[in-house]
Amino acid sequence: MYKLTIHGDDVIARVEPEIYGHFTEHIGGVFYDGIWVGEDSKIPNIRGLRLDLIEKMRQIHAPVIRWPGGCFAEAYDWRDGIGPRENRPTRINWWRNWDGRYEPNSVGTHEFVDFCRLVGAEPYIAANITSLPPLAIRDWMDYCNSPAGTTTLAREREKNGAREPFGVKYWGVGNETWGGGGNMTGEMYAHEYRKYAVVMENADRKAQLICSGADHDDWRWANDVLRVLEPSYKIMSGLSLHFYCGAAGDPLAFTEEEWYRQLRQALDLERAIERNWGFVVGYGMEKRARLVVDEWGCWHPGGSGPSPRMKEYGIEPAPNNPEGVGNLFEQQSTMRDAMVAAATLNLFQNHAEKVKMATVAQLVNNLHCLFLAGGEHFITTPTYHVFDMMKDHMGGDALRVSGTKGEIAREKYKIPGISCSASVKDGKLTITLANLSVTESAEVQLALSELNAGGEAEYTILTAGDPHDHNSYEEPDKVTLKRDKGAYDGFVTVPPFSVMTVRVRI
Ligand code: AHR
Repeated sequence: MYKLTIHGDDVIARVEPEIYGHFTEHIGGVFYDGIWVGEDSKIPNIRGLRLDLIEKMRQIHAPVIRWPGGCFAEAYDWRDGIGPRENRPTRINWWRNWDGRYEPNSVGTHEFVDFCRLVGAEPYIAANITSLPPLAIRDWMDYCNSPAGTTTLAREREKNGAREPFGVKYWGVGNETWGGGGNMTGEMYAHEYRKYAVVMENADRKAQLICSGADHDDWRWANDVLRVLEPSYKIMSGLSLHFYCGAAGDPLAFTEEEWYRQLRQALDLERAIERNWGFVVGYGMEKRARLVVDEWGCWHPGGSGPSPRMKEYGIEPAPNNPEGVGNLFEQQSTMRDAMVAAATLNLFQNHAEKVKMATVAQLVNNLHCLFLAGGEHFITTPTYHVFDMMKDHMGGDALRVSGTKGEIAREKYKIPGISCSASVKDGKLTITLANLSVTESAEVQLALSELNAGGEAEYTILTAGDPHDHNSYEEPDKVTLKRDKGAYDGFVTVPPFSVMTVRVRI
């Protein structure tokens, strides 16, 4: 029996809705044809954007979407993606060496912002600081945000169909600047940041600038960057962090050992959050710049997704992708991925004072995706259901949870038996529990301190017959949510490899 106490008088911080955000890059099948099917497509769409996807994104109240990359961002010129589509250039894109495809620029700033507005999400643009000068980024901000009729670029935007400003408030200053984004040292990037940030802040005083942060647990990066940044850290609203967990076997046919290995890796995110946050606090920035985990999720070996192989698209496999795997980095998602999603979102909530935004990589047809789509096919993954069942936490006050979360020790991996977070909003307590055991049910006693709960509770559960279960074009609803209601007595049983959300009036 796990005994957990939820402390009504110990608010960690507000659960920023933006921790439930998404990442979309021009890579593989994310845009073409995950999000973008084109206006003339027979697939239902709004102005070329896949309708089913828009509706599902509204259902989960998607708060923010990051674009255009990722590494793609660092070789992207925003001017390629504006104006009449038939006049836009076709370019070698960042990922050409991997998937042999060119970038048609059918999706640019207008289409991306349109997608965000249709979904109800804020756009978050990652600016290219590797191959564009600061002035080009200033111009992009001018194009997006200047009031109608004011500047030459605002008039160009209007000519291209958008009189009113896009109001883009989140701007990334580069992406993975330790790697694809310029291959810099922390010190080098900090000097670049100072230059770009001062120009970008001047272009739009309301813009929130996100500093390119560390990979995984490279805690030195944050120290190196923040040490050199002073006084430019005053123009920073967030420090990014990227955290993928991979190398844990086949995405569909993993072993029990790999189940625990994957979860162990996922839970190590907590250490990365704490270390990076240590530097933010150490440099006195905690009031203005919290962490932005703008790429996270499972990264499995490619080839498990449903898209056809490259040859079926008429494309010769590229040297980096000798097997010609269809959509680059497309992977299937099982209950294991759902478990990682729930445990990660629980972590963000339990560190709500440190994490202000997070965008899962990536939205569709790529890595830890919520959707798989191809032509007329469109399905949700188990991870989508986790976002759906946890959405009531958004905007709530995260409460401290204490107690015995158990310990599972398999081989060399030690993990807690249960992952839990809780929040209150609008007179309701929402608790999410993920049973990390792949074999045992979890009996959980949920004690409430300084909180009175009563009446009927709503129970939502994501469970399956087998941890490898997943959705496919043939069986789109094999893994889906089940809902129930019942008197709240403070005891729940969570089946193995399952996620449960309890909602009760307080
Ligand atoms: O999400 C795929 C890639 O992973 C992104 O382009 C990059 O930022 C990261 O390394």
